[in-house]
Amino acid sequence: MAEKKAPPPTTTDAGIPVQSDEHSLTVGRDGPIVLNDHYLLEQMANFNRERIPERQPHAKGGGAFGHFEVTADVSKYTRAKVFQPGTKTEIVARFSTVAGERGSPDTWRDPRGFAVKFYTEEGNFDMVGNNTPIFFIRDPMKFQHFIRSQKRRADNDLRDHDMQWDFWTLSPESAHQVTYLMGDRGIPRTWREMNGYSSHTYSLINAEGEKFWVKFHFHTDQGDGNAHLTQEEADRLAGTDGDYHRADLFNHIRDGDHPSWTLKWQIMPWDDARTYRINPFDLTKVWPHADYPLIEVGRMVLDRNPTDFHTQIEQAAFEPNNMVPGIGLSPDKMLLARGFSYSDAHRARLGVNYKEIPVNRPQSPVHSYSKDGAGRTMPVSDPVYAPNSYGGPAAQPQAHEAGLWHADGEMVREAYTLREDDDDWSQAGTLVREVMDDAMRERLVSNVVGHLGDGVSEKVLLRAFDYWRNIDGDVGERIEKGVRDKIGGTSKAEGLASAESIGG
Ligand code: HEM
Repeated sequence: MAEKKAPPPTTTDAGIPVQSDEHSLTVGRDGPIVLNDHYLLEQMANFNRERIPERQPHAKGGGAFGHFEVTADVSKYTRAKVFQPGTKTEIVARFSTVAGERGSPDTWRDPRGFAVKFYTEEGNFDMVGNNTPIFFIRDPMKFQHFIRSQKRRADNDLRDHDMQWDFWTLSPESAHQVTYLMGDRGIPRTWREMNGYSSHTYSLINAEGEKFWVKFHFHTDQGDGNAHLTQEEADRLAGTDGDYHRADLFNHIRDGDHPSWTLKWQIMPWDDARTYRINPFDLTKVWPHADYPLIEVGRMVLDRNPTDFHTQIEQAAFEPNNMVPGIGLSPDKMLLARGFSYSDAHRARLGVNYKEIPVNRPQSPVHSYSKDGAGRTMPVSDPVYAPNSYGGPAAQPQAHEAGLWHADGEMVREAYTLREDDDDWSQAGTLVREVMDDAMRERLVSNVVGHLGDGVSEKVLLRAFDYWRNIDGDVGERIEKGVRDKIGGTSKAEGLASAESIGG
């Protein structure tokens, strides 16, 4: 039998061996504790500072490490090295809910975050997406309000369906995403079985300088992307196993069952963006696959669990502005705002030198002119300024040509110019009528009835019924009837019928 290895000696954070893991230093066995027990002080002080602020949205999540391998030749669209044929790149991925706090149940109805950091040889590339291809709003001015409406009230710190539906029904652009949310995608069975989307449109540039627009789709290889929990199953798990999704991912990877996703792109020729019938930068819209088919790019595999959740997952900092040469942003106002927001959030949550935390550190060389600040550990060398005549790093003007487009006009605060098919209801209606089958529609109606029938005020309810009728007349009627059956009151249809009968 192999001999058991002796455990290493406990030390203080300064590496000094300590005498006891169990007893503090006292004056006699029954006497008072002394202040020079610096090990006890260190233990107490460290413990008191263990918690860091949680992420504002997306606080609850889990993640793992793995790799991404390019399986097709998409070099005609981008010169990014991470997408050249056969390239294999290390990654870290994090999945999350949006509105819940760090300890909240994994199975609450919510979109799921799907964030991937690629440690490419040209620096970090982050794809910070969701499990749905669209979003609730199209102007970043509304994002803060939207998230507040989904979190907690001021007075009692409770979540509140009235607040959620009040915001959604006053923001009709939310219809498409709310339809996804109230359907099966709102509670995926596991993170392994859900798809991920960039949702936004990004830009690409190839070696010849040709530019394209692109949307990313990560299709799960574990099923068809629709595996879900019913509301009843999710409610039960929320009470019995709040970390259900986190545990599922960890346990499957631990047991050698490594989940994978196939990355596909929708590519739009650069000039189509001017004339396409839908504004291609409106985050509330998909591009129908018939117009822009999916093409295969590569495969992402998660095969390594974190060994320290705090340093490797909790302190992971994803940011949409991490773009490598060959990939860029687009005129999507939401994406551009996200380009500012995340690094600000990281500085607040993790400190100015968060990119030195190993999970955020690029695996390619860093030659920046950033210097000093709290938490800096990477040595800085002279010269500390540019331009200089002492051989310091020199910028390369050609590095980031993607993401540049022509823009001109007066400064305005206005919505995107409307195009032919830019209404708020059509794509949500198509989702209900053409993508969902009868059983899915039935679950959609039942989920909405359950949600609306739980604390939503009459004035918001009336708007919600109109909202759903605008998406789909039949589904709208069924929702109204279901809510009235549940909580009472008169539905529009019944009201009209009784008015007619009174009128004879
Ligand atoms: C997290 C802002 C829209 C996906 C966050 C965080 C902020 C934020 C401040 C917390 C970051 C942290 O502390 O680490 C915004 C703003 C948005 C926006 C201002 C719109 C203007 C979106 C959209 C998506 C998305 C459209 C998906 C397509 C995510 C994900 C995370 C996140 C996945 C969690 C990343 C992680 O796992 O650490 N967002 N967000 N966000 N956001 Fe957004």
